[in-house]
Amino acid sequence: MTQPIVEMRDITKTFGSTRALRGVDFTVMPGEIHALLGRNGAGKSTLVSALSGVTPADAGTIRIGGTSVTANGQSYAAAIRDEIAHVQQTPRLFDQLTVAENLFLENPVVRKRYGLVSHGRMISRTQALLDEWRIDIRPTALAGQLDAGTRQLLEIMKALNRGVPVMILDEPTAALSNAEKRILFDHIRALKLRGVSFVYISHHLDEVFEVADTVTILRDGQIVTARAPVSSLDVETIANLMMGQATTRSERSDTTDATAPPLLRAKGIRIGPAHEATVDLEVRGGEIVALAGPVGSGKESLAMILAGHQTPFGGEISSPRGKLPVIGLVPTDRHASGYVGILGVRENVAAGGLDILSGPLGFINRRKEQEHVGRLARQTNVIASSLDQAVGQLSGGNQQKVVFARSLCRSPDVIVALSPTRGVDVGAKEQLYALLRDLAAKGMGVVVVSDEEDEISQLANRVVIVFEGAIVDELVGDYSMKDLILRMEGVA
Ligand SMILES: Nc1ncnc2c1ncn2[C@@H]1O[C@H](COP(=O)(O)OP(=O)(O)OP(=O)(O)O)[C@@H](O)[C@H]1O
Ligand SMILES: [Mg+2]
Repeated sequence: MTQPIVEMRDITKTFGSTRALRGVDFTVMPGEIHALLGRNGAGKSTLVSALSGVTPADAGTIRIGGTSVTANGQSYAAAIRDEIAHVQQTPRLFDQLTVAENLFLENPVVRKRYGLVSHGRMISRTQALLDEWRIDIRPTALAGQLDAGTRQLLEIMKALNRGVPVMILDEPTAALSNAEKRILFDHIRALKLRGVSFVYISHHLDEVFEVADTVTILRDGQIVTARAPVSSLDVETIANLMMGQATTRSERSDTTDATAPPLLRAKGIRIGPAHEATVDLEVRGGEIVALAGPVGSGKESLAMILAGHQTPFGGEISSPRGKLPVIGLVPTDRHASGYVGILGVRENVAAGGLDILSGPLGFINRRKEQEHVGRLARQTNVIASSLDQAVGQLSGGNQQKVVFARSLCRSPDVIVALSPTRGVDVGAKEQLYALLRDLAAKGMGVVVVSDEEDEISQLANRVVIVFEGAIVDELVGDYSMKDLILRMEGVA
């Protein structure tokens, strides 16, 4: 029988009073795509960080290929550099460096003698890679100027390009469009054929069924299912194993207040310089409207314009009710603009509404802040050891919930949420859907931008299809899932 390429034995890790891993065994076979699943905070990122040596564990043993290490104490990341690559959940690109520099700075293929880097070689290699991955950017573009999807693809490209036998992808598709996902999956499958193994972390169970062979499920730092063939499971079973209880899928409800004037009116909006078309759109109290469309359609920009965070190239946003409403924003790239990792939950959430938490002299009213932030953290189900825990230390899903809490800080009239449940587990997703429905039922206008048909169909009373900067279609009321999919794929 073939030997596993990765063997982790009895791994434990605690952070203060949090027991993130409690005696976990984990193995990966050569050429296997092994999905590591679990709810937010289950310990997935902690386990793979112990494997790659990014954050060593407290105890246990690890073998990768021919290299064995003890999982505690001294850094072993250097010893296994040639065995494993780890694309972390939080992006690691350097914003101030170019695409080519980010991709190749640590890669020996562009070294000349005496450690000098060949600039020309770096640029041409980068261009070749970008072509291969069908990414339309220049090698000399600064990483900081790229959108979240491109950044994520670059990181994955960089790791896959290192030619190591074991790859860890921690929520690789969080910022990817459906088209980008397909490119990624093609590469994963091609590498698998060459014997490369993957540890694949995702909250998108459909992806798991698409690419994975084997499933391991963690709950509260312990294994609940080890190495189950993916064919022996279904989505519901996995969800229940992750949550430790039955999860149910909710359905949309319509609370649109069709009689009152809209909260927000966009008229003659030109989304970008490349688009001639203009958009007219109204958002009513009580309604959940989804903006859907392919990459580059302009749906994100339209949402940012509605939220007042981007200036349109023409047209205007007004409110038939008089003064413009207060708008809360959940941005698409939470790592870049959603939170500040070194600050606590309290400061991050309060940053969404410093004005309303301050007294007449501009000082923050601490008691009010504590109360308000505490309430928002409960409303959004943030799980943290305290309101002072740094957001950078939270699991990815809990970071996203903090971003939600921040957007609600000023009790907005309208909330605009881009990819609202990115990185959020199946249980917490239902909680956020319930939250959005509840906000709508209380009269708020909700705008979501999503690439997920399920999400849209569970939430939206109205779906606006955006294409090339224009609204090309609309589904209202009792539309079917089939209609939605056809419209989103641009078939109908
Ligand atoms: N640096 C840290 N300091 C303190 N606690 C931490 C740190 N990193 C992780 N934790 C805690 O360890 C637990 C496991 O977190 P981990 O990030 O591994 O979860 P996860 O399964 O990856 O979740 P998600 O799907 O939300 O990303 C959580 O309770 C988290 O808050
Ligand atoms: Mg994680």
